[in-house]
Amino acid sequence: MNASPPRIEPLDVEGGDTVPFYALWPQHEHLLARFRQQLDDVVMANAFVGGPWLDRFELRWAEYCGVDHAIGVANGTDAIELTLRGLGIGLGDEVVVPANTIVATAAAVVAAGATPVFVDVDPGTLLVTESNVLAALGPATAAVIVVHLYGQVADVDAITAVADRHGIVVIEDAAQAHGAATDGRRAPGQEPRCAR
Ligand SMILES: Cc1ncc(COP(=O)(O)O)c(C=O)c1O
Repeated sequence: MNASPPRIEPLDVEGGDTVPFYALWPQHEHLLARFRQQLDDVVMANAFVGGPWLDRFELRWAEYCGVDHAIGVANGTDAIELTLRGLGIGLGDEVVVPANTIVATAAAVVAAGATPVFVDVDPGTLLVTESNVLAALGPATAAVIVVHLYGQVADVDAITAVADRHGIVVIEDAAQAHGAATDGRRAPGQEPRCAR
């Protein structure tokens, strides 16, 4: 367990310059000993599903996000699918999804049996706005997934106002915005509108 972290080799770019490709290790290096200790503890306790580590995480994550509850699941895609299923959204329902997001957001909608309807995003922030959402609403729309991206928080209040007027649910995908906040409110920070 004492091996040094693998170094990601710089990518050769035409013209002689080099850029590092996805080198996250400088962020992790000073935490590595703690990560390894925690992994050792989890492995030795066989705590792969549930257990005190998850219990602690759920409590602390809910507190951090300023919400009453957090539920740990296997990954972000499952979080969205389970949220949709929990809300009774599936076959025959449409879910508004920003076109600018990872494939997982739409894949989770499909996994729940519903149909993603893609909408464009604001060219300045690359986030979905209430006017983008409004343009996509139809009789089969059941929900909109707001994706907070690049550490930015989308205007959930404005989108929620539109959604409330049309009787649809707002789900927040904060997989790329852990800890991001606006107006003292974290993403995701409203129940029951949060996923991950
Ligand atoms: C915006 C967004 N939503 C959902 C996901 C899916 O998360 P996971 O890869 O844990 O299933 C990701 C993954 O990076 C993501 O960036």
